[in-house]
Amino acid sequence: MNQETAVAPLLQNGRINRTELKNRIVMGPMAAAAPGDDGAPSRQTIAFFRARAKGGVSMIIMGGSIATTRGYAEAMLRPLLRLDIDETIPGFRKLTDAVHEHGTPIIAQLTPGFGRMGVPAPDRPLISASPINVVIPEANFPAGFIVPHGRVTETPQEATIAQIKHYEDEMVLAAVRARKAGFDGVEVAAHMSYFAASFSSPRTNFRTDEYGGSVENRARFLRNIVTATRAAVGPDFIIGLRITANEYLPDGQGPDGYAAIAANVEAAGLDYVALSAGAYETMSASAPSTDGALVDGGEAAAFRKVLKGPILIQGFHAPERAAKVVKDGLADFVMLARPLLADPDFANKLKDNKTDSITVCDRHNTCMRRMVFGMPVRCTVNPRMGREERDEGASRPASRLLKAPIEEAVLSLTGSTTLMGVIRSVTPNKQ
Ligand SMILES: Cc1cc2nc3c(=O)[nH]c(=O)nc-3n(C[C@H](O)[C@H](O)[C@H](O)COP(=O)(O)O)c2cc1C
Ligand code: SF4
Repeated sequence: MNQETAVAPLLQNGRINRTELKNRIVMGPMAAAAPGDDGAPSRQTIAFFRARAKGGVSMIIMGGSIATTRGYAEAMLRPLLRLDIDETIPGFRKLTDAVHEHGTPIIAQLTPGFGRMGVPAPDRPLISASPINVVIPEANFPAGFIVPHGRVTETPQEATIAQIKHYEDEMVLAAVRARKAGFDGVEVAAHMSYFAASFSSPRTNFRTDEYGGSVENRARFLRNIVTATRAAVGPDFIIGLRITANEYLPDGQGPDGYAAIAANVEAAGLDYVALSAGAYETMSASAPSTDGALVDGGEAAAFRKVLKGPILIQGFHAPERAAKVVKDGLADFVMLARPLLADPDFANKLKDNKTDSITVCDRHNTCMRRMVFGMPVRCTVNPRMGREERDEGASRPASRLLKAPIEEAVLSLTGSTTLMGVIRSVTPNKQ
């Protein structure tokens, strides 16, 4: 089979709800778009997404966005794209207009709160489905991260019914804002140990009220959000769900359990389910160094068995393998995240049979390390990434002259196995 034929399944049209998509390559959500301090898209945010729309993806999922007041207050990263306030709507409208100029739909990812991964304050403890913290062993960080002894978060309080209901209400308001701002849909984020994810798995949800126990109860938070959002935004607006497909923990939930939650929520009016691999406890699975985990481990098949609508899968950078997943019917769309930082023109290059000229992501995760340190996200193999506004005529901000060398020094020191080994040997292990 020649290369053109091998990738053909990725180039077929697709559809989500009533929105026609020109191929099967979707940009996965990433907090990499440099919003303004006011939580609205900056000129760089718009240029970043415009470049990916122009590069041929069939749909963009905007990550790095928050939907609630508490979620914003406890965020571990700033600035974030804010859908918890009305003031950002005009700025988002400029973003959606820019992306739509290229015929590309754009979805806003809505995160209710960061739950066990949030930053607590004396008057604002962490809340989660149940009081269990996150322990990330050093070995479970993605490639490129050296975190001596790993990380242990504070134990959250069990969220009260009033707090849960407040999040549900705020999520619906955020979806309505997204629709006003011209987005084609929203994605409810229920993955990566954040607040919404904590309800899905019996390991992190041992409540005895109507939000814990059975599948029906553990899916209630997500189902309530989807039901109320659907009523508020109408039938044509896309509502997706990003959900963990497997916790990869001995006492964690596997694909069948998560698929049962997704199917329960789907019945409330979902248009797609996007699979995420692992949780913070098994973080290396979520930004993997190799392709294929969600197919090789049977996760995609488990979801396919019980879902009626489209499945978006992550973790396939190699075009031919990604195409095979679609061809085999295990997923309908392939989400690419880091590959689109490395090469915004990935999809057009496939279409134009120039696969060999795609700039390949090295999976060393400099982008993620920069995000975690609160630095503007950059890509090792694509110097234009993070600077797209300069391609549109903006000049280099003077503050970068001072900050860039400091950032390089921090990245180099925290990436040094020798230095981090010394830190490991002189610091206590709290795990
Ligand atoms: C810099 C960066 C920021 C990310 N931010 C988000 C986010 O805001 N929401 C989300 O669901 N996933 C986020 N992710 C995870 C990606 O969506 C994706 O699941 C992960 O990178 C693995 O897919 P890939 O191999 O295609 O990169 C982020 C990833 C990176 C590299
Ligand atoms: S090549 Fe770029 S996108 Fe890929 S991991 Fe490295 S920095 Fe991130």
